[in-house]
Amino acid sequence: MELKKFVHDLQVVHYQRLNERHFLLELLSPEKLPLILPGQFAQALVENSPATFLRRPFSIHSVDYGANTLKLLIQIKGEGTLRLSRLKEGDALNLIYPLGNSFSIPNTKDVLLVGGGCGVAPLLFLAQFLNQRHIHPTILLGFRTREEVSEIEIYAKYGNVLITTDDGSEGEKGLAVNHSIFNSEKLSFKKIFCCGPDAMMKAVAEIARKREISCEVSLENSMACGFGVCLCCITPTVSGNERVCVEGPVFNINRLKWNNFAN
Ligand SMILES: Cc1cc2nc3c(=O)[nH]c(=O)nc-3n(C[C@H](O)[C@H](O)[C@H](O)COP(=O)(O)OP(=O)(O)OC[C@H]3O[C@@H](n4cnc5c(N)ncnc54)[C@H](O)[C@@H]3O)c2cc1C
Ligand code: FES
Repeated sequence: MELKKFVHDLQVVHYQRLNERHFLLELLSPEKLPLILPGQFAQALVENSPATFLRRPFSIHSVDYGANTLKLLIQIKGEGTLRLSRLKEGDALNLIYPLGNSFSIPNTKDVLLVGGGCGVAPLLFLAQFLNQRHIHPTILLGFRTREEVSEIEIYAKYGNVLITTDDGSEGEKGLAVNHSIFNSEKLSFKKIFCCGPDAMMKAVAEIARKREISCEVSLENSMACGFGVCLCCITPTVSGNERVCVEGPVFNINRLKWNNFAN
């Protein structure tokens, strides 16, 4: 579904530092929020920064149509995200949104969401969306350490939450893809939605292919324009090169020519 795009100055109404590397921005729209689908993203303008003149893409973390707000969950990586981390309540943040396609609506209730790193960001909105359709997914979230585990009680409203940490300080030790749920002979999910580092998504995709489970991944290729004109975000698919910002970011793994799992 092609949705109309908006360029808005949204107001930061709540800033929450979750830990050293992550923060949440709750943003109030000056106009009624448009329809936004889970998996879609926004291109944020980093003001007064020649070094980061290109907008930075962030998944929509959650939407509250009643309050007319949306949230972004941001991990500090470089100059752009560091500058965004210094926003204060009352500041404006210019967004182009909603961009990209979305996760599909599954025709099963046996759904697993897998997120790692900042790839957990789109999964809260997806879980909320699934709940509205009476689907209560299993939500497997991978973090580096206990200090980075956050918002679990919020995810838990929408599904059964499982956790891994790289150092084993909370949940199972290891990466999300190492969770014992994947060792079960009776891995009963019929649909997997996954977002995170490439290596994690490839590993989850490999499991899904072996177990014949339908799987969609949300790619986080580097972007420039974010709306289809610069071609810097392309990924090879069975239909040729496609733009992650327009034809994606969500792809069924069967469509991706992603080195080790599609030919
Ligand atoms: C569709 C999409 C959705 C995204 N959603 C989120 C989100 O919800 N929350 C979030 O925190 N981040 C998200 N990202 C990643 C985020 O856009 C980048 O981390 C951010 O642009 C980095 O900007 P920077 O100026 O801080 O870092 P830069 O100075 O641009 O880069 C710093 C370091 O981060 C690496 N980097 C930059 N962009 C990416 C990327 N896309 N993937 C992996 N490494 C990257 C660079 O190679 C470099 O090593 C998303 C990316 C895409 C494409
Ligand atoms: S970022 Fe420009 S075409 Fe995708």
